[in-house]
Amino acid sequence: MSTASVAHTPQNVTLLGATGSIGANTLDVLARHPDRYSVFALTAHRATARLADLCLRYSPRYAVMADQDAAKELKRLLREGHCSTTVLAGHQALCDVARDAEVDVVLAAIVGAAGLKPTMAAVLAGKKVLLANKEALVMTGQIFMDAVETSGCCLMPIDSEHNAIFQSLYRSDQRVEMAGVRRVLLTASGGPFRHMPVERLETVTPDEACIHPVWSMGRKISVDSATLMNKGLEVIEARWLFNVSPEQIEVVIHPQGIVHSMVDYVDGSVIAQLGNPDMRIPIAHALAWPERMVSGASALDLLGVSSLSFERPDVERFPCLTLGYQALEAGNAMPAVLNAANEEAVAAFLDGKLGFRRIADVVAATMGRGGWQPAETLEAVLETDARARDFARWEISKRKKV
Ligand SMILES: NC(=O)c1ccc[n+]([C@@H]2O[C@H](COP(=O)([O-])OP(=O)(O)OC[C@H]3O[C@@H](n4cnc5c(N)ncnc54)[C@H](OP(=O)(O)O)[C@@H]3O)[C@@H](O)[C@H]2O)c1
Repeated sequence: MSTASVAHTPQNVTLLGATGSIGANTLDVLARHPDRYSVFALTAHRATARLADLCLRYSPRYAVMADQDAAKELKRLLREGHCSTTVLAGHQALCDVARDAEVDVVLAAIVGAAGLKPTMAAVLAGKKVLLANKEALVMTGQIFMDAVETSGCCLMPIDSEHNAIFQSLYRSDQRVEMAGVRRVLLTASGGPFRHMPVERLETVTPDEACIHPVWSMGRKISVDSATLMNKGLEVIEARWLFNVSPEQIEVVIHPQGIVHSMVDYVDGSVIAQLGNPDMRIPIAHALAWPERMVSGASALDLLGVSSLSFERPDVERFPCLTLGYQALEAGNAMPAVLNAANEEAVAAFLDGKLGFRRIADVVAATMGRGGWQPAETLEAVLETDARARDFARWEISKRKKV
């Protein structure tokens, strides 16, 4: 076998959400391969100092702050640092750097619904899109996948579970084949409260919820992991990415976080992807696919992993997982309603305005309100998102912590 290295023309990468946890992992991987990747644009919301540091280090062509005032501050910092990066501001600019003709790859790592429009801009422009921003796909489902199909965009999952499933599927001529798949098995660590007495869940704090036993992540996804809503969102994500029915998606608690997910075939074979819990693995896989490249993650020491265990999720304790399945079964705009209510409830919890256990109550009440119309266009989804947020905020105000 030849060991000669392959020469690559560097690909231009736009990193949406560069100042976050996925952003940091992505930049770490990109920095290991300057011959293969060039940073075209970095974006953030308000973390000006952090984005300024990244611009000085990676010299992107563009830096975008979603917030206008933050952009002025970034310009000042970059002038002081003699950095030639052009600073842009606002949501339109996020879309512009995602669809720019010179961009090859877009890493969609903005958290929440705020990432929908720029992610969609990249999809519609036919880019290679590495999707971490699961909320964008959960909200739009069929609309998103139709756009992928029409534009010919290469969509790669960054969520470690979906990336594991992608890696465990049979491939012919670079096409992922679903024939012969009985189920996909999504693994979940179970979060920090797996064994906590249910009464104690009433008083857990945001900081307790954000200490994840396996992964180090942004605060919103950490709370989603603690409620298991993250797994509910991932069930919906799997349905669209792999065109499987809700009955074909099973969630399994696997506290060690070594088996990242599995595919169960009709002949009884189960193919899994294993590795240390390190987001640089799916990021490097998706960037280099169909090749492989170094990610910076350490090799898995199987002998050091004393056991691999699997359990059924406790849906009484964590109703958000069931809500995820219910939203998928209901279809139409319900996943967008679930997502909007969850984003509002998690923000209120992180602000100390809502109890941990009330997050599920707010989501259930918002979904149960009735009258949610089908949303068949992006604009209709965004209208539903706005209405669901209004309703969820009202539900939150009724349950406000005193
Ligand atoms: N972290 C993980 O290991 C992991 C794993 C799988 C999937 N994901 C998914 O990846 C996404 C990012 O997660 P994360 O943990 O990296 O989140 P994070 O650490 O909170 O980072 C979020 C990023 O989005 C930006 N952002 C927030 N609100 C924005 C807005 N309104 N407009 C524009 N940009 C905005 C933030 O900018 P500022 O810094 O300026 O606020 C930051 O760059 C989420 O959808 C999450 O579910 C994450």
